[in-house]
Amino acid sequence: MINLAILISGRGSNMEAILKSVKKNKMLVNPAVVISNKPDAKGIKLAQKLGVQTHVIESRGIKGANWDYDKKIVAVLEKSGVTPKNGLVCLAGFMRILSPEFIRYFKGRIMNIHPAILPSFPGLHSQRQAVEYGVKYSGCTVHFVDEGVDTGPIIIQDIVKVNDNDTEETLSKRILRKEHQIYPTAIRLFCEGKIMVKGRKTVRV
Ligand code: GRF
Repeated sequence: MINLAILISGRGSNMEAILKSVKKNKMLVNPAVVISNKPDAKGIKLAQKLGVQTHVIESRGIKGANWDYDKKIVAVLEKSGVTPKNGLVCLAGFMRILSPEFIRYFKGRIMNIHPAILPSFPGLHSQRQAVEYGVKYSGCTVHFVDEGVDTGPIIIQDIVKVNDNDTEETLSKRILRKEHQIYPTAIRLFCEGKIMVKGRKTVRV
């Protein structure tokens, strides 16, 4: 059984979709802990309602990747049973860059969801970038986290059409619905041992 940690900073709608899917689809995963770097993240209450342990590790004033900060995350993860042997760490709107040390420690066991078809529009405000660029399709990507920003091996992508009258808000909403589908699927595949990383690619086994 995989022990799952979800790291959030805000609304937590992906976290909610994951936790609900774990229950509904009886996934082989134990939702061990939700960690937020912001004490006022809406997702914290949501996680508690869904019966999952929560921890706040306040990061105010700590800019950029910081191993000392990340060590506090590691401590909570290990206390919750989320280890490099049996754990999966899912970033769901977690607005911090993780340190290379953390990424190496949990190598191949950290996933992220990004609201664009990577490698297009990495970084912040991807939906705005897509609207402003004028692409006709955008979407979302679940990928493993490596030491770059939004560069790790891609696990699943899905697309949405961009309409002429779309704004950042309308496009974000449409993409979010797809995010809520592909993130739980990626987690299920991982927990069933069906994802293999080959260089910078993943393949289904
Ligand atoms: C999502 O759009 C996700 O793709 C991005 O941050 C947003 C988080 O939303 N990384 P939520 O907190 O899951 O509702």
